[in-house]
Amino acid sequence: MGWSACAGAGVSPGASASAAPFEGIGRSATEAEIKAWDIDVRPDFLGLPPGSGSVADGEMLWIEKCSSCHGDFGDANHVFPPLIGNTTAQDIETGRAAALKDPGRTRTTIMKVSTVSTLWDFINRAMPWDKPKSLKTDEVYAVLAYLLNLAEIVPADYVLSNENIAWVQSRMPNRNGMTLDHGMWKIDGKPDTHNKACMKNCREDAEISSSLPDFAKAAHGELQKQTREYGSIRGTRTTPEEPAGAPEAAASKVPHDLLTNNACLGCHGLEAKIIGPGFTQVAEKYKGRADAIEYFKGRIKSGGTGNWGDVLMPPMSQLSDPDLETIARWLSEGAQH
Ligand code: HEC
Ligand code: HEC
Repeated sequence: MGWSACAGAGVSPGASASAAPFEGIGRSATEAEIKAWDIDVRPDFLGLPPGSGSVADGEMLWIEKCSSCHGDFGDANHVFPPLIGNTTAQDIETGRAAALKDPGRTRTTIMKVSTVSTLWDFINRAMPWDKPKSLKTDEVYAVLAYLLNLAEIVPADYVLSNENIAWVQSRMPNRNGMTLDHGMWKIDGKPDTHNKACMKNCREDAEISSSLPDFAKAAHGELQKQTREYGSIRGTRTTPEEPAGAPEAAASKVPHDLLTNNACLGCHGLEAKIIGPGFTQVAEKYKGRADAIEYFKGRIKSGGTGNWGDVLMPPMSQLSDPDLETIARWLSEGAQH
């Protein structure tokens, strides 16, 4: 992760004081501010703060702060592929998760991740998803110890700490599954693409694209409906457009970018419940409500709980008024997609 590199090169107090390229604009970041940003933990554990946490404490924290999304044993897949599962005692010995070779098996996090530092770092900076950076250092050690115990990497009475985490690394089920021999990591490594740059007589009008031949397009049904509903990847349309005159003609289009960029689709499916209700369910519930647009704007901005269960929707106060209006209008018109 690049934080320390950025902080060092860009905003270190010493460097900017002498160069002062933008006099009168802003100020140099203080040591304490840089320290607050510089939280990355490297695979060699540089940056790992001292501390410890037991499997038992981790289990309590897990139930309280993590299980609602990831399941009691890290095995739920309603938010994301399961965190734990499909690794064996043999994998712990070899350092290669054998199930990765079987396309039929679900790829869990513990199967894929090679460095325990990545888990520590990710939980520390990003989890719980709705309250990132709220865990204390010892709490990060504890929930991680619990996860490691679920994967049978450490025993149930284990206390994970900065002192023994290197031993844990030597037992990670996929520790030998990572390659560093490519251009992303090593300047003299293999490039990530195998093409050669064109140096002469290059066509300027060349358009780079790829597409499936028509006869193969629908081999797996409508791809657009099969891609997951968050993230930037959208499947291409592979079955013919619906006939003209379908009812959606008049309704607003699904504001995909807004829903994606504001993490809505991590918790709401367009149709299916994830953590919150599916958007068509929401639209259905408030159908015909005269002040629906105002109501949705208020609820999205301030979040809340109680209408669909007892899980809290965090306030989405970052949204601008026009963006709120776009989403609220789309919902009030039936959340067509
Ligand atoms: C409100 C739902 C929610 C809660 C609560 C939550 N998570 Fe997550 N978690 C997610 C989502 C969504 C992702 C995928 C995030 C992404 O890709 O940016 C995720 C991803 C992860 C990952 C990385 C998985 C991978 O393969 O990349 C780990 C590890 C993790 N969570 C651990 C935890 C721990 C530990 C807690 C409790 C302290 C926790 N989570 C609480 C929703 C949640
Ligand atoms: C961390 C998960 C999460 C995120 C992110 C999230 N929601 Fe929600 N949302 C929920 C939950 C849980 C509920 C159900 C709350 C309840 O029971 O009242 C909900 C409810 C709603 C409702 C119905 C409110 C009602 O009164 O019935 C709307 C509308 C809504 N969300 C829109 C959005 C939009 C738009 C976004 C993105 C800008 C978003 N949500 C992001 C979890 C989330």
